Amino acid sequence: MSAGGFVKDKVVLVTGAGGGIGRDFAIALAREGARVVVNDLGATVNGEGRDISRAQSVVDEIKAAGGVAVANGDSVADWEAANRMVAQAVETFGRLDCVINNAGILRDRYFHNMSVDEWRAVIDVHLNGAFYVSRAAAPHFKEQQSGSYIHMVSTSGLIGNLGQANYSAAKLGVAALSKSIAMDMARFNVRSNCISPFAWSRMIGAMPTETPEQKARVERLQKMETSKIAPLAVFLASDQAADVSGQIFSVRANEIFLMSQMRPLRGMHTAEGWTPQSVAERVIPALRPSFYKLDRSQDVFDWDPV
Ligand code: NAI
Repeated sequence: MSAGGFVKDKVVLVTGAGGGIGRDFAIALAREGARVVVNDLGATVNGEGRDISRAQSVVDEIKAAGGVAVANGDSVADWEAANRMVAQAVETFGRLDCVINNAGILRDRYFHNMSVDEWRAVIDVHLNGAFYVSRAAAPHFKEQQSGSYIHMVSTSGLIGNLGQANYSAAKLGVAALSKSIAMDMARFNVRSNCISPFAWSRMIGAMPTETPEQKARVERLQKMETSKIAPLAVFLASDQAADVSGQIFSVRANEIFLMSQMRPLRGMHTAEGWTPQSVAERVIPALRPSFYKLDRSQDVFDWDPV
C-alpha cells in the first residue's frame, strides 16, 4: 500500500470510517504510511442499529493493500465509548497523532415538525460526539505536545439549508468547538481545523428529490467523489500543516476553498445611546443594504463543481 510517507507512522483515529468520506480518509491515510483506527458504529443514515462489519471491511481492505489498521465499533455519541476508542489507538499503536471527527447522521425535518428526539440524536452524534472524542484525545495530545484535530462541518451550518435545523446547529457548533480547541491547545502545539465537504455519499442520497430543483442539485452532487476530500485531510494530519490551525476549508470535487469566519460587517454608533425608535429610524436603514439573504448552501455554491 505504501504510495508515500506523507504521514508515515502517524496514528490517526477516523470516526465514521466504515463508508463514505471517512472510508476514503482511512484508506488514503494508510496509503501514506499512517496507522489507522477505523471507527464506525455501522449505523443507518438515521443513526439506527450497529454493525462492526462496516469498519472491519475497511480494515481488511487496508491490510490487504499492505497497510496498518484496526477496527473499532463504538459510538462517538457516548463519552465512555469515545474514551475506549482513544485508548484502543494508544494501546494498539503506542500513541495518537490525529483525530478526524467524521461520524455523522441525519434526521432531516422542517423545524416546526422536528421532534426533540430528532434534535437530540443529531446533536449527540455531531456536536457531543466531536466534543467527546476530541476531549478524550486531549490529554494525550497535551502530554505529547503535538496533535491535529480535523472536524467535518457542513455548509448547511456555515451558510444554511432547509429542513436541517438540528444538523446545521450541530455543525456550526462544531466549527466553534474547533476554533476553541485551536486557541486553548495552541500552547501544546495542538492544531484544530474543519473541512466542509461536498461529496456523493449515502448521506446525500437521503436528500429530498421532490422538486425539479432538488433533483438537479442531487444530480450535480453525484459527480463529486468522496475520495476527493482525502488529500486535504491527509495534509492537515501531517507535519507539513504545522502552521495551519483554526481554519475552515471546503472541498468540492477538484475545488478547495478557505471559508470566511464571522467578523463585524458594518456598524453604527451614537454618543447618546439608542432607543427602539432611533434603531428603527437610523440603524436599520443604514444596515439593511448589508443584510444577508436567506441563502442556502446551493445559492452560494451556485456553479457546477470543477
Ligand atoms: P456516511 O453516512 O457515508 O458516513 C457516516 C458514517 O458515520 C457512517 O458509516 C455511519 O455508520 C457512521 N456513524 C454514524 N453514527 C455514528 C456514531 N454514533 N459513532 C460512530 N460512527 C457513526 O456520510 P458521509 O457523507 O461520508 O459524511 C461524513 C461526514 O461529512 C459527516 O460528518 C457529514 O455530516 C459530513 N458532511 C458530508 C457531506 C457530503 O456531501 N457527503 C456534506 C457536509 C458534511
